[in-house]
Amino acid sequence: MSDVIGYDRVGEIAVLTVRNPPVNALSQAVRQGLWDRMDQAEADADVRAIMIVGEGRAFFAGADIKEFGKPLKEPFLPDLIHRIEASPLVVVAAMHGVSLGGGLEVALGCHYRIAVPQARVGLPEVHLGLIPGAGGTQRLPRLTGVEPALEVMTTGRHVGAAEALSLGILDAVEEGDPREIGLAFVQRLLAEGAPRRPVSEMALPQPIDWDYAFDATLARGRGQISPAWCVRAVQAAYGGSFAQGMQAERKMFMDLMETDQRQGMIHAFFSERAVSNLPELKGVAPRDIQHLAVIGGGTMGAGIATAALLAGLRVHLLEMSAEAGAAARGRIEANLAGALKRGKITAEAHGAMLEQALRVLTDYTDLSEVDLVIEAVFEDMDVKKQVFAQLDAVCKPGCVLASNTSYLDIDVIAATTSRPADVLGLHFFSPAHVMKLLEVVVGEQTAPDVAATGFALGKRLGKISVRAGVCDGFIGNRILATYRTCADHMVLDGASPYDIDAALEAFGFAMGPFAVADLAGLDIGWAVRKRKRAEGQAPTRDATYADRLCEDGHFGQKTGKGYYDYAAGARAPVPNPEVMPMIEADRARLGITPRRFDADEIVRRYMAAMVNEAAKVVGEGIARRPLDVDMTLLFGYGFPRYRGGPLKWADMVGLEGLLDDIRGYAVEDAVFWAAAPLLEQLVADGRCFDDLNKES
Ligand code: CAA
Repeated sequence: MSDVIGYDRVGEIAVLTVRNPPVNALSQAVRQGLWDRMDQAEADADVRAIMIVGEGRAFFAGADIKEFGKPLKEPFLPDLIHRIEASPLVVVAAMHGVSLGGGLEVALGCHYRIAVPQARVGLPEVHLGLIPGAGGTQRLPRLTGVEPALEVMTTGRHVGAAEALSLGILDAVEEGDPREIGLAFVQRLLAEGAPRRPVSEMALPQPIDWDYAFDATLARGRGQISPAWCVRAVQAAYGGSFAQGMQAERKMFMDLMETDQRQGMIHAFFSERAVSNLPELKGVAPRDIQHLAVIGGGTMGAGIATAALLAGLRVHLLEMSAEAGAAARGRIEANLAGALKRGKITAEAHGAMLEQALRVLTDYTDLSEVDLVIEAVFEDMDVKKQVFAQLDAVCKPGCVLASNTSYLDIDVIAATTSRPADVLGLHFFSPAHVMKLLEVVVGEQTAPDVAATGFALGKRLGKISVRAGVCDGFIGNRILATYRTCADHMVLDGASPYDIDAALEAFGFAMGPFAVADLAGLDIGWAVRKRKRAEGQAPTRDATYADRLCEDGHFGQKTGKGYYDYAAGARAPVPNPEVMPMIEADRARLGITPRRFDADEIVRRYMAAMVNEAAKVVGEGIARRPLDVDMTLLFGYGFPRYRGGPLKWADMVGLEGLLDDIRGYAVEDAVFWAAAPLLEQLVADGRCFDDLNKES
């Protein structure tokens, strides 16, 4: 018999110990092993109870996600759980670490559940585009009631042991070694003569208004369907026997398994983990970073400083004057107050961060001892050059010098120092203590251990770090500039910014591009356009309405007006009435007769522009793999996770059709719609972007 499930006897108790590192996923070998060990325990005349316990980090992290999308092999998880529950012996789960998805479902198939206080349970299948598929939708409501069960399933959140106990998911929570507390618990049950207690035989709780719950959950999903299907699966428990409910759940689970949403979300799950795993940095030790400096305490600098403080680093923040320093401190205090309010930090930690870990300074010479500096000053090459020259003069040898620039050339910045190998880009997204994305921009001369330090810092700050090469806008902003230009062209040709935002929000973006621009600040794009025009890089169809908005002092949310009017008290922003006349003036100036765009055409063009530029970014090596682009768009640009990322989406809709669209649009504008050579190559070879991920 396999060693994946250990077997030993403690008196009348058979202990089944799961050993499938790193997280005890329920692979075929684990399912088969559990089945065989259940047989073995039941065949032993001296055994009166069975205890299942996990070794290592978790009880079970759930079904083995690597098996999804392939033909599932017997024994199937629902059958195994049924077999556990139907055992004539008392079966107990002794839980620690996480018990997620199928892992919690195994526990729900046991007759009793005990856990250590640090244990967490959950049914996160919705994050994989699925519903619980091994009885979770049928058993959990019987323990907790319908509404708490639906809340747990539709959010997919991890529930701490104390809460799980109060919800009725657990029977006991005790401090100690999981095996020891489990054994003591089973011994007590045996001494009391406690009976088997199958959850499937428990009464169903009060039903709810299913249609109302379905509609509300569907609306909250912004196009993602699996949370709403949890409602239908729970509802199915009320339509007949337990077995019929199980069948209905299984059917929905298998149907969802066939969807693009499932594919997209599982792509996101694995890519999120693969993105910071760079073959070239294997074995390269990062430099030790304990003490960090941030230059500039505006929104971005203060956000970076906050993220570093929250991660336990010491931070020096440098500003140009005492007044600017006080304002920066105020921003950091406000950020940390938010973290305190949301329970992310204790009052004690909050106090320590502000009083001990943070120092606000005005003199560069105070930076001589820091391990890493992040410059977050005004986005202007001359200003950056001055800052780096001063850093070069005062920082200790080996200090990593990073720029938070979002567009400018890291190689040019590095060349102004005597130590270009120590320079890299660390491009954060605003608000930097909240947004998950970090672009680690590796310059021509950046040393491998400096790049590794960027990734190590990203990990410490809880970021998703993506490697980017040097180009205007790196991965994210370069692609953004292209799809934004596509949106601007559609506006000139007849769509309104509001049509475009609505179409893309319906596609699943958290916000449309014009609402995003208002949030980010219209002055940023204005500065970039002015720079490009000065450099002779004006676009072929240069619209001026966005500049006119800025000239009138409308920078978006921060000034109360941009594409939308954010008048105090208004819940949803309303279109700013000044915008359409500015657009109409541009159309008249350029001699354009506006035409209608429906939502479908808006999405097709916008996505074609995004995918085409993304393919150029990969083809040129700015992003190493398609998944790097996907994660950039997912974590920094509000791309819907259930679509996997633009290049996974492109694979799913078909590259050939997309290339046809691009070639069709190129008839109108051959420069803007020049097809990416990589896209053409993939279509010619009958391959897709994901093939390149697998090769890397
Ligand atoms: N299947 C296969 N591999 C898994 C896995 C799973 N369920 N869960 C985690 N892993 C792998 C990860 O890919 C990672 O592999 P690499 O080291 O090769 O990158 C490794 O385990 C460690 O994972 P993390 O890096 O994520 O470690 P962590 O400590 O940060 O988080 C975790 C651990 C909380 C378990 C997290 O991995 C997680 O949330 N996993 C997914 C849990 C889940 O969704 N379970 C439900 C599965 S669906 C299901 O069960 C359907 C059903 O009803 C039948």
